[in-house]
Amino acid sequence: MKTAVCPGSFDPITTGHLDLVERAAAIFDEVVVCVMVNAEKRPMFSLEERLALVRAAAAHLPNVRAAACAGLLADFARENGAAALVKGVRGCVDFDMEYQMAQINRSLCPALDTVLLPARPEHAHISSTMVREMLRHRQSLEGRMPPAAVEALLRIREGKV
Ligand code: PNS
Repeated sequence: MKTAVCPGSFDPITTGHLDLVERAAAIFDEVVVCVMVNAEKRPMFSLEERLALVRAAAAHLPNVRAAACAGLLADFARENGAAALVKGVRGCVDFDMEYQMAQINRSLCPALDTVLLPARPEHAHISSTMVREMLRHRQSLEGRMPPAAVEALLRIREGKV
């Protein structure tokens, strides 16, 4: 069984993230979405909230599960028996960053490869940063965040989760 890990901050999950997870789930037997603590960032959503939004968005994918990680991604991948990390790239800036991260992760875990999937052009401008801005300015999230995640977000904000 080939397992892949899709890591990220997912603060919050976007339509582009879900597309990446769906494509990874079509290639690999099992996908673990790893919601990470990024020490460089102060998130809008707590780790538990980000996990709940990912789980809601990916509920239709039977071979996908989500987990949280506060440590090294390479350790998480090893512990979960992953053959690869799957990351999305929207352009050259993403590629430069992901290329470096792939080398670091491979140096930490030589058996771990990184698969980079090009973002669909219609998702190239979507980021968690942009979704957070839309949320702050009460703009529509349609096409930017998965509908199931938007519903979960409303339930969280109503204090029902
Ligand atoms: O969604 P993001 O914030 O761009 O994701 C970045 C993330 C969380 C995948 C990256 O910061 C990461 O891998 N953090 C885990 C810590 C780690 O393993 N660092 C060494 C590899 S660079």
